[in-house]
Amino acid sequence: MKIIRFNNVRQSYPNGEGIQLADFSVGRGEFVFLVGPSGAGKSTILKLIIMAERPRSGTVEVGEYISSSIRPGQVPLLRRQIGMVFQDFRLLQDRNVYENVAFSLRVIGKSGAYIKKRVLRVLADVGISHKRYQMPQNLSGGEQQRVAIARAIVNEPLVVLADEPTGNLDPETAKDIMELLVKINIGGTAVLMATHNYHLVEQTGFRVLKIDAGVIRE
Ligand SMILES: Nc1ncnc2c1ncn2[C@@H]1O[C@H](COP(=O)(O)OP(=O)(O)O)[C@@H](O)[C@H]1O
Ligand SMILES: [Mg+2]
Repeated sequence: MKIIRFNNVRQSYPNGEGIQLADFSVGRGEFVFLVGPSGAGKSTILKLIIMAERPRSGTVEVGEYISSSIRPGQVPLLRRQIGMVFQDFRLLQDRNVYENVAFSLRVIGKSGAYIKKRVLRVLADVGISHKRYQMPQNLSGGEQQRVAIARAIVNEPLVVLADEPTGNLDPETAKDIMELLVKINIGGTAVLMATHNYHLVEQTGFRVLKIDAGVIRE
């Protein structure tokens, strides 16, 4: 079963850059790398998946939604099925670790008891429980990325989209974060990880989608 499907997608910009053709899918529970040099269009693919952009031609399917017919009111529902992790972490600077992870559960109206149990569980899973009352600016880059991953998985998404998640980290910390994403995948969550670092990809054996001159095919 597929959770993401790109059908003959073109998303080129007036300057001629961007995605010329994307035609691929990601299965439930799969770990897939999206690789290509800087400017190849990796972040564009992720924006298409969260439907922040609609393709110029072709369609993008995510779960039960399709870009050609999704209504604006459904976009937040689609995004609840997706966890996002960025190179620059993007934590809420005025909230502590616990509140950063609890935030999306509060927004969707989960009970206080559920939130407490779920957040503590996820913080333990990513190995950051001991920092739960710290503010993001007091954490190392690797610790901030653990919090960002906890936030991404707290709502039990179908897929985690990670955009250069190790790009701001030293090699040792990058390896730890990579191992954490693999652990999350082993737990059943699909992961689509964009990176320009071919070296990171070589050692894993996971499927690799390459963006070559704006073209991505299975
Ligand atoms: N909204 C946009 N308008 C015009 N060009 C864009 C836009 N978004 C991205 N691009 C261009 O598309 C190309 C791919 O960008 P991006 O997806 O960010 O690449 P990557 O994440 O692989 O570095 C780049 O050349 C970028 O400048
Ligand atoms: Mg990018």
